[in-house]
Amino acid sequence: KMIYYVTPTYPRPEQVPELTRLAHTLMHVPKIHWIVADDQSLCSKDVADILRRTGLPYTHISSPKPYIYKGTNFPRGVANRRAALSWLQENADDGVLYFGDDDNTIDLQLFGEIRLTKKVSMFPVGLIGDYGVSSPVVKDGKVVGFFDSWPGSRMFAVDMAGFAVNIEFLKPSANMPYIAGHEEDRFLVSLGLKLEDIEPLAANCSKVLVWHTKTVKYKKPTLRVDIKKLEDVTAYKYF
Ligand code: UGA
Ligand code: MN
Repeated sequence: KMIYYVTPTYPRPEQVPELTRLAHTLMHVPKIHWIVADDQSLCSKDVADILRRTGLPYTHISSPKPYIYKGTNFPRGVANRRAALSWLQENADDGVLYFGDDDNTIDLQLFGEIRLTKKVSMFPVGLIGDYGVSSPVVKDGKVVGFFDSWPGSRMFAVDMAGFAVNIEFLKPSANMPYIAGHEEDRFLVSLGLKLEDIEPLAANCSKVLVWHTKTVKYKKPTLRVDIKKLEDVTAYKYF
């Protein structure tokens, strides 16, 4: 089965390094189709160049966040993930969907596991929240609850990186709301998912194979000050 790896992304100084690192992981994976969904009105050239160089099958689409969410505490990556969902509903009839953010770190072992997803599979995500891990709780091979530090009320308390979905289980009703913290849960609810349908992976959710890594934000140098300092150095004149 093909894995459709959906990555929302947006322009910032860390974008190219994040996508380069992710590209170099995905290039080790057989039968993968990378859907990169740009949070802009046009597909960016920086992103397109990285995609082309992977040699992987890919789709590059763009759908910017609605104007009301600009500069506020917004739900990240929703408009672009929604665009990827519509693309999948129109173009893919089998395979497995995985939402892989551009900054996460993923063990190659996970791909072999999610490829076998029949409906919805779940597994732990490391380096997340106040508990250090977010994971389904498994008893006798069945998911019976969730261990996740975010207190919001949810049926499925999981991170975006903690589940995969078989495309055949992607209902036309599948959707993701613009509600920060509830994107995953509401999406899974929109599929009509039941607790007993969940397939626990990663040795019954006892291993961490994906991490919610975060890159420290690059701070813009205060150029004006730097240039002023440089002007005091004689050698600068010869640059
Ligand atoms: C967490 C979850 O892991 C995300 O899946 C979820 O979308 C997000 O919270 C949320 O609910 O806001 P976090 O690490 O806090 O992720 O967020 P980011 O990594 O900053 O963003 C998640 C994804 O959305 C990334 O792939 C990022 O490139 C993308 N994004 C972020 C956009 O497309 N547009 C933005 O303006 C910001
Ligand atoms: Mn992130």
